[in-house]
Amino acid sequence: MPEVKRLICLCAALLFVLPANAPAEQNLHQAAIASAHPLATRAGFEILKKGGNVFDAAVAVSAALAVVEPSGSGLGGGGYWLLHRADDGFETMIDGREKAPFAARRNMFLDGRDKAIPKLSVDGALAAAIPGMPAALVHLSERYGRLPLAESLAPAIRYAENGFAVGHKFLKLLKTRQQAVRRFASSSRIFLPKGKPPELFSILRQPDLANTLKQIAKSGRDGFYRGDVAAKFVKSVREAGGIWTGEDLESYRAVERRPLKGDYRGIKITSSAPSSSGGIVLIEALNVLSGYDLKPADDTARKHLIVEAMRRAYHDRALYLGDPDYVAVPAERLTNADYAAGLRSSIRFDKALPSVMLAGETELEPEAANTTHFSIIDREGNRVAATLSINFPFGSGFVADGTGVLLNDEMDDFASSAGEGNGYGLVGGAANAIAPGKRMLSSMTPTFLENERGVAVLGTPGGSRITSMVLLAALDYAEGHEPASWVKVPRFHHQYLPDAIQYEPGALSEAEIAGLAAKGHRLMSLPERYGDMQAVLWNKKTRELSAGSDPRGEGLALVGP
Ligand code: DON
Repeated sequence: MPEVKRLICLCAALLFVLPANAPAEQNLHQAAIASAHPLATRAGFEILKKGGNVFDAAVAVSAALAVVEPSGSGLGGGGYWLLHRADDGFETMIDGREKAPFAARRNMFLDGRDKAIPKLSVDGALAAAIPGMPAALVHLSERYGRLPLAESLAPAIRYAENGFAVGHKFLKLLKTRQQAVRRFASSSRIFLPKGKPPELFSILRQPDLANTLKQIAKSGRDGFYRGDVAAKFVKSVREAGGIWTGEDLESYRAVERRPLKGDYRGIKITSSAPSSSGGIVLIEALNVLSGYDLKPADDTARKHLIVEAMRRAYHDRALYLGDPDYVAVPAERLTNADYAAGLRSSIRFDKALPSVMLAGETELEPEAANTTHFSIIDREGNRVAATLSINFPFGSGFVADGTGVLLNDEMDDFASSAGEGNGYGLVGGAANAIAPGKRMLSSMTPTFLENERGVAVLGTPGGSRITSMVLLAALDYAEGHEPASWVKVPRFHHQYLPDAIQYEPGALSEAEIAGLAAKGHRLMSLPERYGDMQAVLWNKKTRELSAGSDPRGEGLALVGP
């Protein structure tokens, strides 16, 4: 009897204690996934239904995107997976960013007169850094997943074997990179069957890629970084003028890093740590803005302040940020509220500060799009925000023969030559110079936002503009809007250099353009809208999930059991 009594007491105590101690988002009954491709979103739900957790689903979505959105990410690329575990609140970031091969040298893309050799860091095998995605997926599955890796990779293998219907976005991006793809028979065979882009909605099968995925499913890391597949990579890359060795592949490791933390008006921000610049630039800009009441400000005044905050944060990106395994990154200082107060003291309401007036090194070098993002919350309240990249659409255009794997051109994200910006017009300094085995600085900004209203998971592709897009979405969240609103916010951007406000069609009114110009801003209208944001929200008050997929893309956001 005493046993029973103790049990009753214990149960009563648990009933009382659990709801208070357990994370509020547990047992949501539903899950939400937003990704850039409907088949990837469905792969995630398939794995959740099989009893997988959010981390297994993230493996499935990442691998599926590698197959059905080869323009944006893939086994030949890398990325960042920001994780939150609901039962103990544990958070980490998997850094699966590519690394420069050991034979890489600071001036490898320059001619004898220190001028960048056109396209060398963008097209072909020399542009490819050592991929991080396969190592990151194995790590994610083994360390945090519930299902065997082979099960989480199964939907991607199926898509690669049975094929998927080629869509508008695929064709549009392929057309922009056709020249690079056409140079290599191994790539043309897959992406330019019959010598030209496939027909809209025709079925694209990738049997070699299916085999490479199966090797990973069977042997984990070794299925990619050692043995037959690795040998094929090294042979094919070297024959095409690249510099990879077996040692580069064998020694690659995905690493875990502590996510960056910040606070904007009571909203807790969790975002990417270096080797991405995303979290620091986002938090630094929000810290600057937290000193202003943006609500009553008129539209021009509000945008002026946002631009001035972006200018200063991107300036520090160029000066200080690089791979933390190679350079000392002053993350604490740059994300400190007092530091932001100092930056605010140089902001005037009536006038833009020309970027050249910002203190610091002037000899900055250029860094150099395609990428993808997905966001998931599972029914236990676990979360993943992942941004993955092979850099330009279809990466380097080079498929290592027999592997089906399209290699990245992420070497262009290093600051490699003086005088010009990279593919995104970004400049950088010594902190982001090429060095053997180093990770190139990224702008990817997978992010969580949390306050009493809810928990948001978001991110987007878009090169240098990634972080400013997440910033605009965070401000929209702060105003109480839903994911469907954050993903369609009209976008404008400032990245320190070039010293201009870049904006997509319709993002600024005539009055705002005139008002900003009167303050001394240079305005640069962009020909097209940009970004492909994927976001989910758990509303703590209504206990409902909602999700949004950028109307600029072809993604799918779903809430379901
Ligand atoms: O890591 C980076 O910052 C870039 N490689 C991202 C490129 C990108 O987002 C292109 N997207 N449209």
